[in-house]
Amino acid sequence: MGPWARWPTYADVIGRLDKKPAVIGHSFGGLLTQIIAGRGLSAASVAIDSAPIFQAATANLNPPTPPSPSSSASSSRSRRRVLRSALHGGRTGHHDAMTEPYTVDWASHTNRLVAAAHSDADWYDRLARELVRPGDRVAVDVGCGGAGMTAALAAALGRHGVVVAVDADAEVLAAARSHLTAVVPPGAGRVEFVEADLAAGVAPLRDALDGPVDVVWASSSVHHLGDQQAGATALAGLLAPGGRLALAEGGLSRRHLPWDLGIGDPGLELRLDAAQDRWFARMRAELPGTTRMPYGWTEALRRAGLTQVTTRSTLLERPTPLDDGDRVRAVDGLNHRVDRLRPTGLLDAGDLAAWDRLLDPADPAWLGHRGDLGWLEVRSVHLGVRVGEAGGAQRG
Ligand SMILES: C[S@@+](CC[C@H](N)C(=O)[O-])C[C@H]1O[C@@H](n2cnc3c(N)ncnc32)[C@H](O)[C@@H]1O
Repeated sequence: MGPWARWPTYADVIGRLDKKPAVIGHSFGGLLTQIIAGRGLSAASVAIDSAPIFQAATANLNPPTPPSPSSSASSSRSRRRVLRSALHGGRTGHHDAMTEPYTVDWASHTNRLVAAAHSDADWYDRLARELVRPGDRVAVDVGCGGAGMTAALAAALGRHGVVVAVDADAEVLAAARSHLTAVVPPGAGRVEFVEADLAAGVAPLRDALDGPVDVVWASSSVHHLGDQQAGATALAGLLAPGGRLALAEGGLSRRHLPWDLGIGDPGLELRLDAAQDRWFARMRAELPGTTRMPYGWTEALRRAGLTQVTTRSTLLERPTPLDDGDRVRAVDGLNHRVDRLRPTGLLDAGDLAAWDRLLDPADPAWLGHRGDLGWLEVRSVHLGVRVGEAGGAQRG
């Protein structure tokens, strides 16, 4: 029996517990441990020699046996409600997604950020090799998340290089540090971690840097600043002459589903995208010092004083039929998006009912049963260069 088949049982058992458990698992158990942690269902997790969440390919992940007649859709839904209240309830020290749906609690995304860093490793490696030039010494990864690009930049810079990984969240940084230890190859540059909130400006980061840098990379982090243009301009100000600022922003959002799933109205995923866009607008509206940036990222780089501004977009497509690991990540990603939108009222009741069925492992309509899921997305990186002769930033 594959781990998918066991998932409903584990999730149900955990949903009935008074407290979140500590979860320990080996190999595929380790994968389940990561998924359970990623859903916020465990208090502590140890994954030993885990099957990677992005490539859990080998064991029998055939669809689980259809539920018995007693596990009707409505009982499945009530189980999901129990699970959901376990997910959103009782967190101390973090924002409650039910009451502040537009505030992002980055610490609760730690496992997801590390999983993304793993699965995007090839993309990061390609980009880092293109961004780093001979003679470069110092790079910065702003809002480093799981430190996927930090690792790639350290490898591209080589043993004389330094990468400064910056994030506002201490738990995210701690996870980035352990991920990095596992993936940085021999001969890579040194990595330093700096906890800094860019919303308060770059002065603390500038102090930590000790001088101008060759490359600043910021992926999906500048759009969390109230004033995105001020953020881009401040980051451009960290560059040495000839240095490059790369902002990974925009592109086209990920698609997994056929247009007509036979559950709910056709176009479910398109409406999920539309709801997410409205979530994004409200998230931005609630940021401190929020201001609109009514132009694109290339214009923002030009206004930041950079030259040779370009955009490079990459189609990321995973082969279909998806392997079991990609299927896990696809369903988990949709689950995450729907859970985030659930308390906002941005998805209508009919769509939510359809998603409840599609995302319930105990329901015969569960997406994990389907062999027709795909994976298509476009990532855009906007690049600008600080005018002047490149000389290689200095650092002790
Ligand atoms: C969407 S994640 C992107 C992570 C990673 N760069 C990637 O592309 O996978 C945004 C990251 O930016 C960090 N972040 C958000 N606001 C920030 C701020 N004001 N200052 C520094 N980091 C911030 C978050 O903690 C999180 O790690």
